[in-house]
Amino acid sequence: MKIIHGDCIKEMKKLPENSVDLIVTDPPYNIGVNYGKNKDKLSQEDYIKWCVKWIKQCERVLKRNGSLYIINYPESNARVMCEVNRQTKLLFKRWIMWFYPTNIGCSPKNWTRASRSILFYTKGNRYKFNLKEGEVIDDFIEFNLVKNVSKEKVQGFPNQIPEKLISLFVELSTNKGDIVLDPFLGSGTTGVVCKKLDRNFIGIELNSKYCRIAEGRINKTK
Ligand SMILES: C[S@@+](CC[C@H](N)C(=O)[O-])C[C@H]1O[C@@H](n2cnc3c(N)ncnc32)[C@H](O)[C@@H]1O
Repeated sequence: MKIIHGDCIKEMKKLPENSVDLIVTDPPYNIGVNYGKNKDKLSQEDYIKWCVKWIKQCERVLKRNGSLYIINYPESNARVMCEVNRQTKLLFKRWIMWFYPTNIGCSPKNWTRASRSILFYTKGNRYKFNLKEGEVIDDFIEFNLVKNVSKEKVQGFPNQIPEKLISLFVELSTNKGDIVLDPFLGSGTTGVVCKKLDRNFIGIELNSKYCRIAEGRINKTK
């Protein structure tokens, strides 16, 4: 389990190419969340350019036939997907919808947001996909958000993703002992899941306070 404090583009450049089996990540969504270090409010155009930059590093460090999952709001993932399909050799596999039944953030003059999109890419066609014989998995999945009262909630971090969601990707797209990378570690959810599932893990995070939160959380995980 390795946690790297720094900017993910700079830090991924230091990782060897073709060295990681899976990348699962939940980047900043460009909606003005205060993560302490980055602005999270670029122009749409600059945001998409920045996403393509770090995704190109993901492409470089992924092993042949490795997989990449990117969680974001659908309107951002739609634009990211068009650019990634044009500017990289990654193979687009599926647009997955994550639905979370919610009673928070209800909009009186708009549809209440209750879903996120997940882009699934691979670097080759002989990728791992660990379904048992006869088993199927739909591209529409439902998991609750991590709420303040949730058992897994850690203090001091605003946007924690549910462990069950990340487990799904790690179990489907890797085997025990494989290497998983999350370039936007946050509170360490991907690391916790990897420790529970016996995968090796590298996490990168810009904010030192979040690195400490993630480290504490991963260390406590059995
Ligand atoms: C949406 S959160 C990730 C939450 C995570 N999935 C979890 O469950 O805790 C995005 C994280 O990316 C970090 N971040 C923002 N810009 C970064 C950069 N350039 N390099 C590395 N981390 C960055 C933020 O500090 C924040 O912790």
